[in-house]
Amino acid sequence: MSLTTPPQPAPSTDLPVLYLKELRAHLAQKKPANGDRAQGVGRAALSDGLVALDIALMHEKATEALASSFDFTGKLDDSRARSGFFFTQALIPLEAAQRATRESNRLLRQRNDTLRLHAAELARSNRRLLREIARREAGEATIRKAKSQYAALLVESQTMQGKLRQLTRQIISAQEEERKQISRELHDEVVQTLVGINVQLAALGKGASAGKRDIRSKIARTQRLVEQSVNAVHRFARELRPAVLDDLGLIPALLAHSKIVTARKKLKIRLTAFAGVEKLDNARRTVLFRVAQEALTNVVRHARATCVEIVIRELPGAVRMEIADNGKSFPVQAVLKSRAPKRLGLIGMRERIEMIDGVLTVDSVPGTGTTVNAQIPFQAGER
Ligand SMILES: Nc1ncnc2c1ncn2[C@@H]1O[C@H](COP(=O)(O)OP(=O)(O)O)[C@@H](O)[C@H]1O
Ligand SMILES: [Mg+2]
Repeated sequence: MSLTTPPQPAPSTDLPVLYLKELRAHLAQKKPANGDRAQGVGRAALSDGLVALDIALMHEKATEALASSFDFTGKLDDSRARSGFFFTQALIPLEAAQRATRESNRLLRQRNDTLRLHAAELARSNRRLLREIARREAGEATIRKAKSQYAALLVESQTMQGKLRQLTRQIISAQEEERKQISRELHDEVVQTLVGINVQLAALGKGASAGKRDIRSKIARTQRLVEQSVNAVHRFARELRPAVLDDLGLIPALLAHSKIVTARKKLKIRLTAFAGVEKLDNARRTVLFRVAQEALTNVVRHARATCVEIVIRELPGAVRMEIADNGKSFPVQAVLKSRAPKRLGLIGMRERIEMIDGVLTVDSVPGTGTTVNAQIPFQAGER
């Protein structure tokens, strides 16, 4: 782009004429003269874009012209003074315009300075903002990272919980299987051996002569010991895994177990059951038996109850077993949530029930006692 200078107003050809005319009129004026004419010429010069030097030149030419045509006699000094006055008056509009320009230049400079200050302030606050944005972005990144780490840890912990649960279930299943085997071995092997020994002892006793009375009484005592052992092993084997459960069913097994409990502890046990419960498969009847067994063990061990009521009833599509005692209560949630349960009693009960898609709840009410509630669904064909 080329820069073009704006066209400078050429001094009007009429201006020197006007200057001369007005100066003459001014000098001819009666005193006191004022500066009106001169200032009028000055304003015209200003609007034509002239400067003080142009006025000076015009003034010089005009005074020369007047000198040749004017009669200054006697009043030369006065004329010179008045002509000088005219000249200074003609300069006034230009001078005023210049002052205004200077003033507006000064204002502009001032405004520029203020703007520069504002710009510097803006730049500073921009830098602060940028720093703040960077800081926040870094903070957000840290939070995002922490969140994703937390999510990963949560997933890991959930996986571990799942694994732990699976292991617990495996242990419970393995336990049941092992108990079955040990029970069978005790019944079939140990008991048979003991019985065999007893038979041998009996034969020995009969064969011994009368003189050997001492030996005979010793043999009889040993026979009684062996009998006691046989009974103990039977009882142990039954508790471990009651054959009745497999052979006769849940209700006979619960009755037999209740008899064993009441024989040892002064406690009344009432059992009410609906016969349809036996339609459950062996594994699920075993679960109900184990839950009842553990619940009764807890009553004996902790409740100081005088009475227990076991009720097995049918619900639509499900079986419900309740074991309610009238003993002292305990804080169920606190015990269940305790991080390091001493035993697997209550937790094992719940695990067993949940393994077969059931639900176990325990309610303990001060002054009333504790109720263990197990509910398991019937499977297709069991109803
Ligand atoms: N029927 C009950 N009456 C009173 N307290 C009970 C009963 N059942 C369980 N508890 C309380 O709950 C605790 C946990 O029971 P459990 O898990 O079976 O473990 P354990 O019997 O080995 O102590 C018991 O120690 C006892 O304080
Ligand atoms: Mg227990």
